[in-house]
Amino acid sequence: MVTLIGVSGSLRRGSYNSAVLQAAAALMPAGSELRIESIAGIPLYNGDVESASGVPGPVSCLKDVIAAADGLLFVAPEYNNSMSGVAKNAIDWLSRPPADIARVFGGKPVAIAGASPGGFGTTLSQAAWLPVFKTLGADLYSRSRLLVSRAGTLVDANGEITGACRASAIDGHNTAARRRVHRRRRDSRSRGSRRRTRRGGDARCGRDGCTGSSPRGGRCRRA
Ligand SMILES: Cc1cc2nc3c(=O)[nH]c(=O)nc-3n(C[C@H](O)[C@H](O)[C@H](O)COP(=O)(O)O)c2cc1C
Repeated sequence: MVTLIGVSGSLRRGSYNSAVLQAAAALMPAGSELRIESIAGIPLYNGDVESASGVPGPVSCLKDVIAAADGLLFVAPEYNNSMSGVAKNAIDWLSRPPADIARVFGGKPVAIAGASPGGFGTTLSQAAWLPVFKTLGADLYSRSRLLVSRAGTLVDANGEITGACRASAIDGHNTAARRRVHRRRRDSRSRGSRRRTRRGGDARCGRDGCTGSSPRGGRCRRA
């Protein structure tokens, strides 16, 4: 079983990005799953808090969940032609302390996607994420983009993505992400050293405060 962790970069109840994530989870190919985790419990980064009490519980929980998974799908909005502060804050916390970055993100297959009500579907914010995940040493899937534009016309009253994009763009992105995980497994087998990150079992850490909550919740295209 291939287990991907899905994280939405929006806290909004009716978030288009969370809706895309839910649609992606429903479309995972057989033998794989996308488990949705939330950044809602992550506070604003404060170096004083980190010095005094270390990484907050929800952060270390999400770090462990990502470290144990085969990959990460990060679906995040675009704000002012870049990533949103909320989403960046979450990734910044997840990168603390630096000595732990390799465990959480090192070589980790990461795919990014995004939805916006405008016509460009987070093109610029996705570009802004590239140096971030490169800095963290992730194995970023960058062959194509999953862009969901005019998202307001695609999400129905239940917060679900409608339309043919489900079967084409999202499905294609999922399949590509799963292929990436398989290729990575095969490569590490041939190097004779399987990565520690795939130990099997439950990707949830089960620690207190680790709810693994599911945020609910145009045009979708792979570019
Ligand atoms: C501060 C702010 C800046 C925004 N800037 C952009 C932008 O640069 N490009 C864009 O496509 N949408 C922009 N938007 C609109 C967001 O795409 C829209 O609010 C979207 O619904 C956010 O994602 P969500 O539905 O997942 O919460 C902006 C919204 C806010 C609140």
